[in-house]
Amino acid sequence: MNQKVLVTAGASGIGLEIVKSFSATDAKVSVCDIDEKGLTALKKQVPDIVINVCDISKRSDIEAMVTYCADTMGGLDVLVNNAGISGPTAPVEEIKPDEWEKVIQVDINGTFNTTRMAIPYLKKSSAGVIINMSSVAGRFGYENRSPYSTAKWGIVGFTKTLSIELGKYGIRANAILPGAVAGARIENVLKGGAEAHHTTVEAERRNALSIQSIKSFVDPEDIAALAVFLASNSAKSISGQIIPIDGDTQKAS
Ligand SMILES: NC(=O)c1ccc[n+]([C@@H]2O[C@H](COP(=O)([O-])OP(=O)(O)OC[C@H]3O[C@@H](n4cnc5c(N)ncnc54)[C@H](O)[C@@H]3O)[C@@H](O)[C@H]2O)c1
Repeated sequence: MNQKVLVTAGASGIGLEIVKSFSATDAKVSVCDIDEKGLTALKKQVPDIVINVCDISKRSDIEAMVTYCADTMGGLDVLVNNAGISGPTAPVEEIKPDEWEKVIQVDINGTFNTTRMAIPYLKKSSAGVIINMSSVAGRFGYENRSPYSTAKWGIVGFTKTLSIELGKYGIRANAILPGAVAGARIENVLKGGAEAHHTTVEAERRNALSIQSIKSFVDPEDIAALAVFLASNSAKSISGQIIPIDGDTQKAS
């Protein structure tokens, strides 16, 4: 496909899988992250990528990063706004304003600033694509997770607006909403739950999966494959959509 792709926060987690999946096509991929060591390790695995250290909470970092990545690749066709932090777990009245603002700064302002900088490049593409990472927390209210849920609902509104504003330039915008993702993090959560509730990891797993129709957590590789599909020509009529990939999760956990 020869696409020029920028993935934010791609040194680990879902972003890393997205980088690998695009790199496995003919795409040229740029990756930014706050974690310099992680980026250097990734560059060893995937030598053709362009890497750039960037704190997505800092506007000046983003401005330099998007310009550097797009200019180094010779343009930009696909922007994957993957960066997002989950923030504190507490009722609203106990959340420190600084903690609230940090989540909004990374998840919302970071996505806005990256997109704002990328649009002039995407307009020059013959098929520009924006993929924003929301969450199942952008479909439900989540007790004690107000900053994250608010940010992820915000990503949905941003995505739908981008689609309307940019469609006339041939740019599509969609949001991916992953549910609970398989891997070390969820296993630790289950282990912690088992200890706290004096039960077993398997009982915690059954409980966690009881709100899903499909009884398994989401493979990050499948999220990456969805991103590659959404960026492809086969998805040319798909824009402004929020696309859950969550085993048909029925309610907040
Ligand atoms: N993992 C899940 O279960 C899950 C579920 C739904 C949605 N999501 C969303 O998917 C996206 C990726 O999630 P993940 O779990 O893979 O993330 P993660 O917590 O594993 O972090 C991925 C990367 O983000 C980088 N990062 C953190 N703060 C940064 C900053 N200020 N600037 C630049 N990079 C920064 C980290 O260094 C790391 O390499 C996020 O937007 C998240 O909200 C994740």
